[in-house]
Amino acid sequence: MQEWLKTAVFYEIYPQSFKDSDGDGIGDFNGITEKLDYIADLGCNAIWMNPCYDSPFKDAGYDVRDYRKVAERYGTAEDLQRLFEQVHARGMHILLDLVPGHTSEDHEWFRMSGREERNEYSDRYIWTDSWFERAEGFPYIAGERERDGAYIINFFKCQPALNYGFLKPKEHWQKPIDHPACLATRAAVVDVMCYWLSMGCDGFRVDMADSLVKNDDEVKSGTCLVWKDMFAKVHEKYPDAVFVSEWNNPASAIGRAGFQMDFFLDWTGNGYNLLMRDYDGSGRDDSVFKVKSRRSICDFLDEYLPKYEAIKGAGLYCLITGNHDTVRAAYNLDERELKLAYSFLLTMPGAPFIYYGDEIGMRYQKLPGKEGGYTRTGSRTPMQWDGGVNHGFSGADASRLYLPTDSAPDAPTVENQQARGDSLYHTVKELLRLRREESAFARHDNLRIEAAERGMRSFAYSRGGLMMLCNPSDRAETLPVDLTGYERIYAVGDGCRKEQGCLLDAQSFVIFRR
Ligand code: NOJ
Repeated sequence: MQEWLKTAVFYEIYPQSFKDSDGDGIGDFNGITEKLDYIADLGCNAIWMNPCYDSPFKDAGYDVRDYRKVAERYGTAEDLQRLFEQVHARGMHILLDLVPGHTSEDHEWFRMSGREERNEYSDRYIWTDSWFERAEGFPYIAGERERDGAYIINFFKCQPALNYGFLKPKEHWQKPIDHPACLATRAAVVDVMCYWLSMGCDGFRVDMADSLVKNDDEVKSGTCLVWKDMFAKVHEKYPDAVFVSEWNNPASAIGRAGFQMDFFLDWTGNGYNLLMRDYDGSGRDDSVFKVKSRRSICDFLDEYLPKYEAIKGAGLYCLITGNHDTVRAAYNLDERELKLAYSFLLTMPGAPFIYYGDEIGMRYQKLPGKEGGYTRTGSRTPMQWDGGVNHGFSGADASRLYLPTDSAPDAPTVENQQARGDSLYHTVKELLRLRREESAFARHDNLRIEAAERGMRSFAYSRGGLMMLCNPSDRAETLPVDLTGYERIYAVGDGCRKEQGCLLDAQSFVIFRR
């Protein structure tokens, strides 16, 4: 694992909505460059930027039309290169978003692939031999191109799946993973990665990283083989390139495929989801960090620990505050609850990822879908910088904004959060300062659960000489943790008393150092 990853804290930027520098109503590269000092000052030292390539934007850019061209709306290739340079000038790193599993239906490869006469791209995508032959078990489309056949899609209708082959081909149109056409797909994607690495990015967040090989087995052996091969080729030229996978299975992603990092993704009802988003429309909310919930941290740990243990030390299993696909955490957690949740997320192993605006508690907006966002659109609204026009996001007329800004009179902004000493923003900043200063946080194999029990809300865990204690509930609870010889270095809430174990006040999070 690259050394810098051990102390990395990522900030995720949805470029559409971060900062508009030229007044056209949409965020851009130069806007991001302008705000790098803000990101660095918050305590983040790395960036993941969502897709910024030429695209018809039917899925917010996850439908790439040209992998090597930047989307005009974000600026020029030179602007992006300048962003890379400015990131590096601050000792920071930046990952682009790689979409290796599918392209836009408007990509030149797909246009060629859909032609009747055979050509170099005929097998770049997965086609059956005739329009009425079903691609059994896969979403497929027919009736769109001159070629007689149906093709498999990966996500939306506009996203045909690239052909990396089938683990065990069953039909004549299914190719084995080492078929020349599938090797050509790999080579083309390796070229794309090398292209952006040569331009100066430090690596990639990889979209749907587990989805390359079709009919793969449970541990995704086929997809892992493909990644191993592609990484070997990229690392020959760019040994320092880093990759974080959208996979949610570190044993496969890190252990077998060779990623350095994997995400614990937000899937309804899974361990991560239960931390902050376990609610439904009925008013019930059993999230771990909701004050009135009954949920114990054990439900998170049951899923997290085996996955963490499987790769412990070999790579990073990463926790997010949210991302462009999740509902914002502030949708149902108030500021105090968010402070406790973030104290947890930012003191766990793995590189944390902060989604832009989560540090100020930006809210989820109920909005009609934009660019294929649907319910995700409400988490993609413009960053709220200050109390000025469009919250400082853009000088454009409000009607031209990519999405509306939060119109609530008490909308959180960087300005009002910075001005209030006890705000969420300052909690995040303080936590990131601690993360920088305490060397125990730079090790990722040192997590020990010190106290966690079903039926109890409070829990404690340590990392080397640091002891973290958390009580998300509205009642004081005693944890069986001996704090003799420890000093307190951080607290949300009134903290705790060292009496027969440790009496933890309601809604508190405390860090002690030995
Ligand atoms: C996952 C991305 O995070 C999401 O935004 C996108 O819509 C799908 N993959 C399809 O690429």
